[in-house]
Amino acid sequence: MNKKVDFLVIGTGLAGLSFALKVADYGKVCLVSKTKLQETNTRYAQGGIAAVLNEPDSVKKHVEDTLIAGDGLCNIDVVNMVAEEASGQIEELIKWGANFDKKESGEFDLAREGGHSEKRILHHKDNTGEEIQRALSEAIFTHKNIEVLEEHFAIDLITQHHLGKLVKRHHADTECYGAYLLNLKNNDVTKVLSKVTLVATGGAGNLYHTTTNPIIATGDGIAMVYRAKGIIENMEFVQFHPTSLFNPGERPSFLISEAMRGFGGILKTQEGESFMEKYDKRGSLAPRDIVARAIDNEMKTRGHDFVYLDIRHKDTDEVISHFPNIYKKCKEIGIDITKDMIPVVPAAHYLCGGIKVDLNGKSWVKRLYAIGETSSTGLHGANRLASNSLLEAVVYANRAAKDALSMFKDYHFEENVPDWDDKGTTYTEEIVLITQNMKEVQQIMTNYVGIVRSELRLKRAIDRLEIIFRETENLYKRSKLSKELCELRNLINVGYLVLKMAQARKESKGLHFMLDYPKK
Ligand code: FAD
Ligand code: SIN
Repeated sequence: MNKKVDFLVIGTGLAGLSFALKVADYGKVCLVSKTKLQETNTRYAQGGIAAVLNEPDSVKKHVEDTLIAGDGLCNIDVVNMVAEEASGQIEELIKWGANFDKKESGEFDLAREGGHSEKRILHHKDNTGEEIQRALSEAIFTHKNIEVLEEHFAIDLITQHHLGKLVKRHHADTECYGAYLLNLKNNDVTKVLSKVTLVATGGAGNLYHTTTNPIIATGDGIAMVYRAKGIIENMEFVQFHPTSLFNPGERPSFLISEAMRGFGGILKTQEGESFMEKYDKRGSLAPRDIVARAIDNEMKTRGHDFVYLDIRHKDTDEVISHFPNIYKKCKEIGIDITKDMIPVVPAAHYLCGGIKVDLNGKSWVKRLYAIGETSSTGLHGANRLASNSLLEAVVYANRAAKDALSMFKDYHFEENVPDWDDKGTTYTEEIVLITQNMKEVQQIMTNYVGIVRSELRLKRAIDRLEIIFRETENLYKRSKLSKELCELRNLINVGYLVLKMAQARKESKGLHFMLDYPKK
């Protein structure tokens, strides 16, 4: 059934949920998840959320740390704004019912992570995201103005293109009127017309074979906005988390939080030697790009499949009480982290680039906002500082909500939008046409566009991706929609953007490390 709402919110992670809660008192909200509301990247966040709460920390230090990690490509106005607005938004999360760990004194138990010069990470044990997702989901389900559509897959944003008009890329007059959603329970397509649309669809870790991201992270929002002719930027900056649990066959890879290195964990070779000092004076707590590359180098030069993270020297009870979920997970596969070293490998974790937005989360398409991991705000530059992404999501949700509330009453529903037309299409009988291409995309990206890149690798990748692109576009044109086909198409689209932007950057910068251009 088609719908008309004031606010269409696509995505139910921290970004989408907090925006929905902020606008719902003023208008009707339709909140969409392609699976269950709780199944998001947000839910898997472990380490926590960065914010300056008290001395000796300061906003200035948080800004400096963010800029250093970003390797010269952050937008300083954005960094200042996010660091300043952090504590106010933490209060909002607490008001919605999220709990963060405290010390016996009643002060927050702040943790430290790589690249942070102070302890400033608020956390809930080692499952901060699950706690935030729980609290906000409860608030969402009790709000009478919010309709939740689970198992609905956003296929495409509606713009003038769907009215038969030509839409040029980056054209100032391009407008978004809502989206087409595929109801995954009955395969019907719902047309949702909205005054304001928010894309909060998260990252694209599934571009790679090894990732910490759940299977929902297929870059759908970025691909949709690209097709709607919005601006996409900084896609070459894909962050690999240095330490995911080495457990062959498990997908997604289980994360071993950076907070464990903040707590004193030391990276070691399989021979038991600490190696990070060779690469950076900050040792195991250097920023992520440096640590991931160092691990990659140790593994490649030694011919090893993993390195170790060693936390055995710390107090057993404290380790278990700080990291109960990591302890439990490792125990399940026969590793007692208080007695054994943990085998770890880098895994695709976070996309720094995405849909270009302004300081209020407004994209380059009118009536369309993008926030959270799918967006590119300028906060992360060439490399995100740990625990700055949950913060970015909640700060931008607040700003986008204020901006949207000041505008939405002036917008009208576009009445001439046609229903989805799938005449002449048939169901794909051979699912292998989709699954095999998906595997190939992941292999191409992993082997040629990973932690270390070169001009030759990028050229090989683009040549191969173009073949898969053509095959998939042909299949898409003649097939009835399925989630799997749409996700493959979106991932190819996102992979293409990563590759093109990687080819365009003729230097090594932050997460984009090119053998042809040694870092100065
Ligand atoms: P998500 O939480 O990923 O939500 C995306 C939503 O979009 C989902 O509801 C999904 O169903 C929906 N969606 C996607 N495509 C479609 C579509 N086509 N149609 C309909 N719905 C769609 N960051 C930190 O700051 N601190 C941490 O400690 C931390 N730890 C992390 C640990 C792990 C294991 C991972 C994977 C990430 C971690 N991150 C952390 C990163 C952080 O979790 C994410 O960047 C952040 O949660 C993204 O939130 P989001 O709201 O933008 O998107
Ligand atoms: C972690 O806990 O190591 C993840 C933190 C992050 O990605 O910000």
